[in-house]
Amino acid sequence: MADRYAVFGNPVAHSKSPLIHAAFAEQTGQMLEYGTVEAPTSDFASAWQRFVQEGGRGANVTVPFKGEAFALSDTLSHRARRAQAVNTLIVGGNGRTYGDNTDGVGLARDLAHHGVTLKGKRVLVVGAGGAVRGVLAPLLEEKPSELVIANRTAEKAVALADAFSAAGRVSGGGLETLAGRFDVVINGSSASLAGDLPPLPDGLFAPGATAYDMMYGAAPTVFLRWAQMQGAAPIDGLGMLVEQAAESFFLWRSVRPDTAPVRATLRQALENALENSP
Ligand code: ATR
Repeated sequence: MADRYAVFGNPVAHSKSPLIHAAFAEQTGQMLEYGTVEAPTSDFASAWQRFVQEGGRGANVTVPFKGEAFALSDTLSHRARRAQAVNTLIVGGNGRTYGDNTDGVGLARDLAHHGVTLKGKRVLVVGAGGAVRGVLAPLLEEKPSELVIANRTAEKAVALADAFSAAGRVSGGGLETLAGRFDVVINGSSASLAGDLPPLPDGLFAPGATAYDMMYGAAPTVFLRWAQMQGAAPIDGLGMLVEQAAESFFLWRSVRPDTAPVRATLRQALENALENSP
């Protein structure tokens, strides 16, 4: 019997995680099944308990359940506690639930794959919601000279910067008060989901700057199109998705898959989807 895993979300049908984990399993010779569970928004906990009772061994957790997964975990990793969110659940031998968060390491590894280093750089992170909170610690570990969090609702950015002030030089504020140029600008707001561009000022990018959107789509996001016009090199969040999945796979199976072929396959599939779209 293959071990069972799944991604929990709502909606979840669009998730690429089953594809990614099937590719990892094939590549590493691991016997596992990986499906989707669309949990009711009002009762994630029951859906998870049912999955465990039916023999489930672990799961990824996506929107809108990362907070609920954090709340129901019996034990939490250090990085899940810092993120206050869980994207990876593991069922322990005694049936207890262990919660971890691989989003931050996923972003850090993807930046590294693209040759983007943060040490000594001025870094801007746009947004101050759960997605941003989940990646701040690994970004600060790379010792940027300064990390600025800018958000539509300035107070949320200020509060988040305060919460991470012990981890490095970090400040928060509104989008309209942004000053100076940045070497790396990471869009962690959910604006791209709605096809919106956060109201960012022109002249934000230093020469040779990188623009990273934690979202991705068949076509570049509106943020990446704007950033490219402003002279920045664009990177979308597809690699981050694959890297966070690889870290989850490693937690479950103690085997580290090679992400390069999976990233290439997904990129090709996105390009095909774009060519075939009307
Ligand atoms: P997530 O889990 O994706 O982080 P979230 O916690 O709801 O979701 O946070 C969404 C983030 O995107 C917030 O920082 C939000 O800004 P506000 O705090 O002002 O709401 C930001 N966001 C969403 N739509 C946006 C838009 N059109 N322009 C700018 N920021 C936007």
